[in-house]
Amino acid sequence: MYTDLEGKVAIVTGASKGIGEAIARRLGAEKVKVVVTYRSGEKEAKEIVQAIEQSGGQAIAMHADVAQEADVKELIRKTVETYGTLDIMVNNAGMEKPSPSHEMSLDDWNQVISINLTGVFLGCREAIKYMLDHQIKGTIINMSSVHERIPWPLFVHYAASKGGVKLLTQTLAMEYAPKGIRVNAIGPGAINTPINAKKFSDPETRKDVESMIPMGYIGKPEEIANVAAWLASSESSYVTGITLFADGGMTLYPSFQAGRG
Ligand code: BGC
Repeated sequence: MYTDLEGKVAIVTGASKGIGEAIARRLGAEKVKVVVTYRSGEKEAKEIVQAIEQSGGQAIAMHADVAQEADVKELIRKTVETYGTLDIMVNNAGMEKPSPSHEMSLDDWNQVISINLTGVFLGCREAIKYMLDHQIKGTIINMSSVHERIPWPLFVHYAASKGGVKLLTQTLAMEYAPKGIRVNAIGPGAINTPINAKKFSDPETRKDVESMIPMGYIGKPEEIANVAAWLASSESSYVTGITLFADGGMTLYPSFQAGRG
């Protein structure tokens, strides 16, 4: 537990499932007031809010499509109206949609870029604007991926968006460090989430992915939420502009693990 988080206000985008859900629940348990943001999972978001409330926390579900500028502005406005401020912005919403790059439609490219990259930009911009206007030394956490570093055939839009999130995070971290606003990213590896449910339900595929992880197992959403809680708390007060990889070692060139090469 991070006692300094108690009473803070956080927005978590894409929080109706997966990593976003785990982060929302963890922040709720830390007594942060949590805005559980969803695009299509209203029912799930409301269930998460209920669960947080039942364990003594405070939360509210809000709709926002992070790719829509007006939605993001409204999300910040309603958060401040409800909870009075904004201290922590978790830009987590993201999607993936594989296709060979030479056959990828412009619509698919645009959709992934607008949610995974433009959505992160809008969330950062609006949160930072609010924090500057109100002299809040807030914290921003962007969801990147091991694929900000590892190229990923069939996912060129996804990899490009995450590479973008990396430099967006570093640039904003540098720009707003003098104001006390920290901007960091998390780079999850293969995590057991709905995005991956189909893939990992096939034992062969699962084994194959596990063989790319030195620690040998698919991560749990809670293992990413642990990292988010630390980055949100003042325990990480001197940390800005990083991507913290939580990937069981996936970024360590696992094919060399047995001393090959
Ligand atoms: C993707 C997962 C994938 C993992 C490792 C993540 O960013 O969302 O689908 O399994 O990277 O490749």
